[in-house]
Amino acid sequence: MRGFADKVIWITGASSGIGAALARAFGASGARLILSGRREDALAEIAREAGDRGAASTATIAFEATHFDRLPELTADAEGRHGRIDMLVNNAGISQRSRALETDMAVYRKLFEIDFFAPVALTKLVLPGMVERKSGHIVVTSSVAGKVGGPQRTGYCAAKHALQGYYDALRAEIWEHNIKVSLITPGFIRTDISTNALKGDGTTFGTTDKNIAGGMDPDAAARVILRGLRRGHDEIAVGAGPEMHALWLKRVAPGMLNRVARKLG
Ligand SMILES: NC(=O)c1ccc[n+]([C@@H]2O[C@H](COP(=O)([O-])OP(=O)(O)OC[C@H]3O[C@@H](n4cnc5c(N)ncnc54)[C@H](OP(=O)(O)O)[C@@H]3O)[C@@H](O)[C@H]2O)c1
Repeated sequence: MRGFADKVIWITGASSGIGAALARAFGASGARLILSGRREDALAEIAREAGDRGAASTATIAFEATHFDRLPELTADAEGRHGRIDMLVNNAGISQRSRALETDMAVYRKLFEIDFFAPVALTKLVLPGMVERKSGHIVVTSSVAGKVGGPQRTGYCAAKHALQGYYDALRAEIWEHNIKVSLITPGFIRTDISTNALKGDGTTFGTTDKNIAGGMDPDAAARVILRGLRRGHDEIAVGAGPEMHALWLKRVAPGMLNRVARKLG
């Protein structure tokens, strides 16, 4: 896929799922990559796959997204690897599988730290370089859950809705510096997202649920996402299941959607 040759792209959550598929797809377009996640071994493997597909060069920087005091130093490191960041893809995230009545406040705080505050913090660190160069693209992986509320995901939906508000507002400010902002809105994609999701007591769900098992292949999702990013779209919806109908139902028949949502848990 053309359009990203020699672009410097920093992807978080690149060690697995959608982020790993994005790394392979951007690699095939000849981009220069910086891949982040917590697991160094997994990042090294994805870097090799991206290189095999043609990435101009690939670096890895492993870190815990919520170690906020380390982010300035890590961002300087990332900017130093290829001299700049053309695109930041804030993709790292974690989901939830628990009802509100059984969810500890600590779980809500953790979801917001990883899914909302971490991408915002990284964005704020990367933006000054983009403003200086009058060029850049900020990307964030939200979710259909960022538009629509569904059971077992009160905290996840809230954090993804918050992302939608923040990045829509940022877009309305930052355009004058020639910086684009794109939100990715996936439906069910076949990744480890439900396995890694938090239960109400903070332990992990540990299994792939039916919707995720039957979800879209992540490499197919990455191709759709790259096409949208190449065209500079503000929002990129990606998914192949009935959950994607929720996006237009929310606009045209929200009451009906609220009744349908009761049956999704
Ligand atoms: N799969 C879906 O159906 C779906 C639907 C809508 C939205 N999304 C969103 O897509 C994004 C990617 O998720 P995925 O589906 O690819 O799930 P995944 O396979 O579980 O991947 C999650 C990625 O996030 C990283 N990550 C998680 N917590 C982190 C932390 N505290 N610090 C640093 N990195 C962390 C993980 O890296 P390490 O494990 O190496 O730390 C991993 O690379 C998420 O934002 C998710 O909310 C997914």
